Amino acid sequence: MKTILNTEGQDLLFRNARSHSDWQDKPVDDGLLRQVYDLAKMGPTSANMCPLRTIFVKSREAKERLKPALHAGNVNKVMTAPVTAIFGMDIRFYEKLPQLFPHADARSWFKDLPEPVLEYIALRNSSLQGAYLMLAARSLGLDCGPMSGFDNAKVDAEFFAGTTIKSNFICALGYGDASKLHPRSPRLTFEEACQVV
Ligand SMILES: Cc1cc2nc3c(=O)[nH]c(=O)nc-3n(C[C@H](O)[C@H](O)[C@H](O)COP(=O)(O)O)c2cc1C
Repeated sequence: MKTILNTEGQDLLFRNARSHSDWQDKPVDDGLLRQVYDLAKMGPTSANMCPLRTIFVKSREAKERLKPALHAGNVNKVMTAPVTAIFGMDIRFYEKLPQLFPHADARSWFKDLPEPVLEYIALRNSSLQGAYLMLAARSLGLDCGPMSGFDNAKVDAEFFAGTTIKSNFICALGYGDASKLHPRSPRLTFEEACQVV
């Protein structure tokens, strides 16, 4: 029989996991970030394209570079977090398909598609990968604070200039201060959000 995640594991990933804005003064080791990535990278993407490109913003200097792009409400969240991941997406993801999907000429399926279509595909798949990374982080005891409240163009100019990478969303990582959380907001029930046809 296949092993399934026990209730404690489900709680860690979902029921007790919250989006954090306030952080304990506890550092996150680079080795842990590597472990997080090494789990998250195994999640599926279309044709195994893996478009996510992540910059872990950790130093004071790097945080200062990110700060001007942040919406006012997110500045403190990022500046006090031990790490904030910038989740970027490589719009020319297909250049890596000979390596990532070696059993077929998958590069040819994508390389001539119009830019907006490439961006749409990269957005879908890098968003999935960002979500895998958040679940991987939670599975290793970290808390997450995902944010889209920032100026993407400014982040792209500061962190991805001269590349084919564009920012998707950012996510603070660390050990959250649960005492500062507001009560959990409701979710849609199965009946409200799903159909079995
Ligand atoms: C893609 C994304 C963007 C978000 N953007 C922001 C943001 O800019 N600022 C913020 O404070 N929270 C942001 N959030 C946090 C959400 O409000 C939060 O995940 C949601 O209310 C659920 O909260 P919970 O995980 O504690 O239940 C974002 C979450 C996601 C997934």
